[in-house]
Amino acid sequence: MTEIQERLATGKGKFTPLYPDLGTGPVSYEDCISPEFFAAEREAIFQRSWLYVGRSEQLRRKGSYFTRELPGKLASIVITRGTDGKVHAFHNVCAHRGNKVVWQEHPQEESAGFCREFHCKYHGWRYGLDGQVTHVTNEQEFFDLDKASLRMPPVHADEFAGFIFISLASGPVPLRDYLGTRILELEAYPFEKMTQRYGFRARIHGNWKLAVDSVCEWYHPPYVHARFIDKDIAKAEKLVPPVDAYHYDLFTPHMLTSVPGPPPLKPREPGTAGPAVRDQKWFYRLLRAGLFGPDDVPDLGPLPEFLNKGRIRSWGNDQFWLFPNLSVQIWARGFYITYTYWPESVDSHLYDIDLYFVPPANAGERLAQELVVDSVIEFAMQDVNTIEATHSGLSSRASRQFHLSDQELLIRHFHKTVRDTVDAYQAAAEKGE
Ligand code: FES
Ligand SMILES: [Fe+2]
Repeated sequence: MTEIQERLATGKGKFTPLYPDLGTGPVSYEDCISPEFFAAEREAIFQRSWLYVGRSEQLRRKGSYFTRELPGKLASIVITRGTDGKVHAFHNVCAHRGNKVVWQEHPQEESAGFCREFHCKYHGWRYGLDGQVTHVTNEQEFFDLDKASLRMPPVHADEFAGFIFISLASGPVPLRDYLGTRILELEAYPFEKMTQRYGFRARIHGNWKLAVDSVCEWYHPPYVHARFIDKDIAKAEKLVPPVDAYHYDLFTPHMLTSVPGPPPLKPREPGTAGPAVRDQKWFYRLLRAGLFGPDDVPDLGPLPEFLNKGRIRSWGNDQFWLFPNLSVQIWARGFYITYTYWPESVDSHLYDIDLYFVPPANAGERLAQELVVDSVIEFAMQDVNTIEATHSGLSSRASRQFHLSDQELLIRHFHKTVRDTVDAYQAAAEKGE
């Protein structure tokens, strides 16, 4: 028996009772609708945590840079690969009179490129790749200017497994300490081979945490996604994998959902459409792909040991949740997806979905990837459509308590982690720490 099956053999309550601190009672969702809580969360979490801003492939060589407009006017940041080969980040603000320094057509839009230095468009001050002032126009006309101390205000930045993080805190814990041992294991995965990116962004009218909630349980798919499934198998109960199929794990503040998936189709005889599979739409058979990935899986070598720790028989994916707003979902079929949730206000957020594949070798592989992307986006939009309905329902405050099943363990954990982080920050602030 696997560890999961052993737990199940004990009867009701499989994962949640392993974490007594979380309790099993109803949970308040005031944290999703209160403007006061939103302001506190922004200060305690988004202005202090490590935040994912891009992939190392975006900074291929010394002099590469990109900017990020962090939503909700959190910050405008420049991220560069410096002459020292390291990642640098700084606020996109000129030391002279505060102009935004790095932008192209429109100041509000993000930009990317390659350069040796940045020029402020207002009065021509120049900056090195580390944000340091290198040139002041008509310097002799200033009074006691200490040029060596002038710079675009620095922001902490670091890379891990090709993921670039920044922190707006003045003295954050080191990134690797923040991630912890279970997340550090992701370094064994060949992310660097998956450079074919398909990106998507949508503005969602609902609290960002409700969007996280909608993806970190697999209790909803038979209902939210039923119409997407071929009518042959549209009966809800047939979509629910066996109850021992899931695996949940918590490594506070981060967490994991691990789920099953269908095995890929057998290789196709050249010139044939391949065998009929009753559960698949003809289009998926033709392009040999679907929600769970391409049927022709790239050879990435043996699966790293950190994946599928629950030993799910027909494993589909592991979804790692990196607190506060990033999810890295690694699929059995050799691709991965990042989901990022950027709050703009208590009832609005930007949702970024980026899918990464090994670059396609031919048109067939490209079409298969496009179909995976299309399927994932379709499912994701079905999820967020629901969370807009949920936010609207919660806003009435007619119902304040929520009842969470064992499968909704991560929701219980996520909201508690958010509340605990806000409480700890506020307690420290009151003590003047
Ligand atoms: S504001 Fe940048 S040079 Fe004047
Ligand atoms: Fe969903």
